[in-house]
Amino acid sequence: MSAALPTSSREWHLVARPHGWPKAEDFALRETEVAAPAEGRILVRNKFFSVDPYMRGRMNDVKSYTPPFKLDHPMDGGAVGEVIASNAEGFAVGDHVLHGLGWREIADVPAKHAVKVDPDLAPLSAYLGVLGMTGLTAYAGLFDVASFKEGDAVFVSGAAGAVGSQVGQLARLKGASRVIGSAGSDEKVKLLTEEYGFDAAFNYKNGPVRDQLKEAAPDGIDVYFDNVGGDHLEAAIGALNVHGRATICGMIAQYNATEPTPGPRNMALIIGKRLRLQGMLVGDHADLQPKFVEEVAGWLASGELKYRETTVEGIENGYDAFVGLLRGENTGKMIVSLA
Ligand SMILES: NC(=O)c1ccc[n+]([C@@H]2O[C@H](COP(=O)([O-])OP(=O)(O)OC[C@H]3O[C@@H](n4cnc5c(N)ncnc54)[C@H](OP(=O)(O)O)[C@@H]3O)[C@@H](O)[C@H]2O)c1
Repeated sequence: MSAALPTSSREWHLVARPHGWPKAEDFALRETEVAAPAEGRILVRNKFFSVDPYMRGRMNDVKSYTPPFKLDHPMDGGAVGEVIASNAEGFAVGDHVLHGLGWREIADVPAKHAVKVDPDLAPLSAYLGVLGMTGLTAYAGLFDVASFKEGDAVFVSGAAGAVGSQVGQLARLKGASRVIGSAGSDEKVKLLTEEYGFDAAFNYKNGPVRDQLKEAAPDGIDVYFDNVGGDHLEAAIGALNVHGRATICGMIAQYNATEPTPGPRNMALIIGKRLRLQGMLVGDHADLQPKFVEEVAGWLASGELKYRETTVEGIENGYDAFVGLLRGENTGKMIVSLA
C-alpha cells in the first residue's frame, strides 16, 4: 500500500439524457472522496481516457448491448493509468494498467478487470487506440467479419478516424487491389492519400457520396467497412461487386438523430449481387487479440502502419473532447490526457 494517497478525485457524471446533440448542461464534473482500495482492488491514477462514439448510445435510456450510463453516476470507458495503491495480488504500485473506469482522475478498479500494459513497448495512449479497442475493431472487422482477401477493393468510411484509418492501412498491407476512403475535410482526405497509402479518397461534404464513390472506384468494391451508415451505406450497396461483403461497424451519422432515419433505398441489389452485410461488436473478437497485437505491433515497429491521435488536455475538457469527436474535430483516436 502507498503512504500518501490523494483524498479527492474529479469525475464526469451524466446528469440529464441528451435529446439530439449532447449539451454541456447534460454533464457535470464532480468531486468525490478517495479511499484506500478494498481487497482485490487497485487504485489507479488515470493518465489517459478514451472518448468513443458508442458512448453516445449509452447516454440514452434504451436497452442495448451495453447498459445505459446511470444519471448522477460517473461515466465509464477505456482508460490507462498508473497503480498508486494495490490490495490485489499481482499488481504493484508503479504498474501501468488498462481498465474500464475512465472519465475520472482516480479509479478504484477491481483487479480482475485490469490488464497490465508495458509503457516501454508503446506509448500508453496507444493501448486505447491503435493497439487497443479501436485497433482490434479494425483488425477483426476487416479480416474476420468482412472475410477480406488479397486483391479485394476496399472502401471505408470515417477513414481518417481511429478505426477507419487502421482499416485502410491494414487492407493496403494485406494486398488490397484498391483502397478508398471518405472523410469530412479536404485536409483529412489529403492525409489518407499522402500518408496512409489510400489509392483514392474524397470529402463526403463536397458532393453526393454515390457520385464520388463511383469516380474513386470505377471497377466497384468488394468490401465496404461502414462506420457511418446513411448515404454512405446506400452508395456502398450500389458499388459492391457480386459476392461483396460489408462490415457494419458503426452508423455515426445517426447517433444524434431524434427521428428514425431512413434506410438504404437500394436493398434489393443485395439479392442479385448476393451481398453479405454483417454487423459486428468488437467484444466478440477477443480470440483475435494475441494475433492482432503481434501483427500490429510489428507493423508499428517497422513504420509500415501509421497512426495519429488527437489529444485533449485536462479532465475539465472531457465533455468538449466527446462532442468534438462527434463533430469530427479529431484525426485518429480522440483521447483525453490527464498526464
Ligand atoms: N461495432 C463495434 O464494436 C465498434 C467498435 C469501435 C467503434 N465502432 C464504430 O466505428 C466508428 C468509428 O469509431 P472511432 O472510434 O474510430 O471514431 P472516429 O472515427 O475516430 O471518430 C468519429 C468520426 O466520425 C466522423 N463523423 C461524425 N459525424 C459524421 C457524419 N454525420 N457522417 C460521416 N462521418 C461522421 C467524424 O469524422 P469526419 O471529419 O470524417 O466526419 C469523426 O471524426 C463509429 O461509428 C463507432 O461507433 C464500432
